[in-house]
Amino acid sequence: MHVVEATSGQPLQPGTVYVAPGDHHLEVRRAGAGLQTHLQQGPAENFCRPAVDVLFRSVAAAVGPAALGLVMTGMGSDGRRGSDDLVRGGARVVVQDAATSVVWGMPGSVAQAGLADAVLPLTELAPEVLRRLGVAAARPDAALAGCALMPLAAQSFSFVQDLVLRESAIVLGPGKEYLVESRLGPLAQADGSRDLDAWIDGVRRFPTGPAGRALVEALTTNETSFFRDVDPFTHLRDQVLPTLAKARGGSRRLRIWCGACSSGQEPYSVAMTVADSPAVAGWHTEIVGTDLSRAMLERCRTGRYSRLEVNRGLPATSLVKHFVRDGAGWQVSPALKAMARFSELNLMRPLPPMGRFDVVFLRNVLIYFDVQTKQAVLRRVADVLAPDGYLYLGAAETTLGLTGWERVPAGRGSVYRKVS
Ligand SMILES: C[S@@+](CC[C@H](N)C(=O)[O-])C[C@H]1O[C@@H](n2cnc3c(N)ncnc32)[C@H](O)[C@@H]1O
Repeated sequence: MHVVEATSGQPLQPGTVYVAPGDHHLEVRRAGAGLQTHLQQGPAENFCRPAVDVLFRSVAAAVGPAALGLVMTGMGSDGRRGSDDLVRGGARVVVQDAATSVVWGMPGSVAQAGLADAVLPLTELAPEVLRRLGVAAARPDAALAGCALMPLAAQSFSFVQDLVLRESAIVLGPGKEYLVESRLGPLAQADGSRDLDAWIDGVRRFPTGPAGRALVEALTTNETSFFRDVDPFTHLRDQVLPTLAKARGGSRRLRIWCGACSSGQEPYSVAMTVADSPAVAGWHTEIVGTDLSRAMLERCRTGRYSRLEVNRGLPATSLVKHFVRDGAGWQVSPALKAMARFSELNLMRPLPPMGRFDVVFLRNVLIYFDVQTKQAVLRRVADVLAPDGYLYLGAAETTLGLTGWERVPAGRGSVYRKVS
């Protein structure tokens, strides 16, 4: 699925998520035989602009009974009146249940008004939406993208599984055929091939060539955001930097490694945390961002982010302080860029000479590996982490009971130190 920030007058495309920009109501309007977006700055509704009520009202008018409203966790009762409009127009509305909602305000107000056709836990919402849209749930990417997918033979899938495992340690389990088809189909098409199996046969002849590399990169998941999960960065600011400031007062140098940095939001969030910390003001800090994906590293080096990306997790004060406007997007400041350097590094291979790090971020990457690979990676990380250094893992990740690590209390964060 593509996620875009909506502008006015975009024809609605299948497989695309349109996000309402701040301070604008988003509407859907008829345009000839199709539908298009429309932004307006009419009065706030339910104290909100954008308001779900405005969107749903426009969808009820433009789409009628074929529409499906979905209301998920959120404060207040925005969406209730819009759901009423949808239901009056013959459409259905599905809402998230109280048990899995962080706040049951919005979905609760729809359910309590008797407007919800189904009230479901979070995990059942996507399959239910796909079922109602007549989409085969086993191939959600493909069907939602509305593209004619190139089907994949079993032996092609098994070759891709082996190659991706060998080159990246990422495990593509059974049932991931749709993922392979939807991610590799565009590569095959771009190479002029109308048949995914034939394209994969070509890769098979030279698996370590450019097409093999593109195949592996296409199957990495690069989801990230600024200050992702918040707690690790609060812990870094409040606990780790003041502690290291005392321990490294002599050298006044810090080295921090982000071991799977994707498009750079994590290393730049670390850089902002360090730049804003009085404990280490004026110190020389080096932040090393590494990743398997050359495309992601290129994005890190440009340091340019869209409005949608900076709207995900970056406080307005940090945006103003550490970024400069660059057309429709934003550019990290020269001061942040000077702290960071980026290089290619495959975590499944022995580490190149890198020196010692005071802090390592290795977040949301171990989840893709099998247990042996995770353990091997953690052993290599231990070798480059200073004895009094800190390791940050993803919220759901642990050191798997490996000896030599102890967990540090850090809110909902997953922070570890080495023990001798
Ligand atoms: C989900 S992103 C995590 C980004 C960031 N750490 C965060 O938590 O927001 C996972 C990243 O791991 C990278 N990756 C996957 N396998 C890898 C490997 N074997 N070596 C290095 N990076 C890898 C992917 O390219 C992707 O950018």
